[in-house]
Amino acid sequence: MDMKNSLRVTSLSLLLCIIGFTSVLARPATFLQDFRVTWSDSHIRQLQGGSSIQLILDQNSGCGFASKYQYLFGRVSMKIKLIPGDSAGTVTAFYMNSDTDNVRDELDFEFLGNRSGQPYTVQTNVYAHGKGDREQRVNLWFDPAADYHTYSIFWNHHHVVFSIDDVPIRVYKNNEAKGVPFPKFQPMGVYSTLWEADDWATRGGLEKIDWSKAPFYAYYKDFDIEGCAVPGPANCASNPTNWWEGPAYQQLDAVQARKYRWARVNHMIYDYCTDKSRYPVPPPECRDGI
Ligand SMILES: *[C@@H]1O[C@H](CO)[C@@H](O)[C@H](O)[C@H]1NC(C)=O
Repeated sequence: MDMKNSLRVTSLSLLLCIIGFTSVLARPATFLQDFRVTWSDSHIRQLQGGSSIQLILDQNSGCGFASKYQYLFGRVSMKIKLIPGDSAGTVTAFYMNSDTDNVRDELDFEFLGNRSGQPYTVQTNVYAHGKGDREQRVNLWFDPAADYHTYSIFWNHHHVVFSIDDVPIRVYKNNEAKGVPFPKFQPMGVYSTLWEADDWATRGGLEKIDWSKAPFYAYYKDFDIEGCAVPGPANCASNPTNWWEGPAYQQLDAVQARKYRWARVNHMIYDYCTDKSRYPVPPPECRDGI
């Protein structure tokens, strides 16, 4: 082979290689690539060839879906458009769960509906080794039913970060050095549900669901999971070259830290860390500030 030909072959294989990679990394995926319906097939509709879905809540049923695999570390994100108008009494949840009752690890986003014109509340919670009771709440600074917004859970050996449109709203640091459990031993599945919970969701249960407004619809798209799938290669989760373990991801950078502070100062309405009636002595993970 002469020089020119071999160059051509090299660039051709390089091109094929790039095409190959992009197809492997082609994200976001369709719903059915990564998920399955777990509750009420008739209440989850696939739209646009399965690249987005519609969740339905009516008087007969809510619905839910789950990932086919579990994951250990990584980042899960999706775009969600919540129920518009009067959504009081409805709860839309997006969470990860280890499915191990006694030593459950769980990372929760719960979107609590409200009366028309009143802000949606986002409640987050973290369970580590079976212990939860770490609720925080923020009121959203935009109308989450007018457009899609990105909700993500990022998780590595150093911290768990809940973000909305790249604004961190919650960071749960690895405080194992202080004896605080950190979810790092168990893979978690990704779940979502839409259901009625008007006994507690809106203004502590005072506002009831208005069934005359049913059916209620929420929309999801741009499903993106990057992480160590289980079952999968056993050494993946401890591989320091996974992008989510990189130096840039071991703590919030200056821009993220500024956004995080902005969200806490302006939009946080409840933090278990400062709830003296529940915790006269703040839990250890709350003691070093944010
Ligand atoms: C609903 O709106 C009320 C009044 O603005 C507010 O106090 C509350 O935090 C909102 N969210 C929920 C889930 O009740």
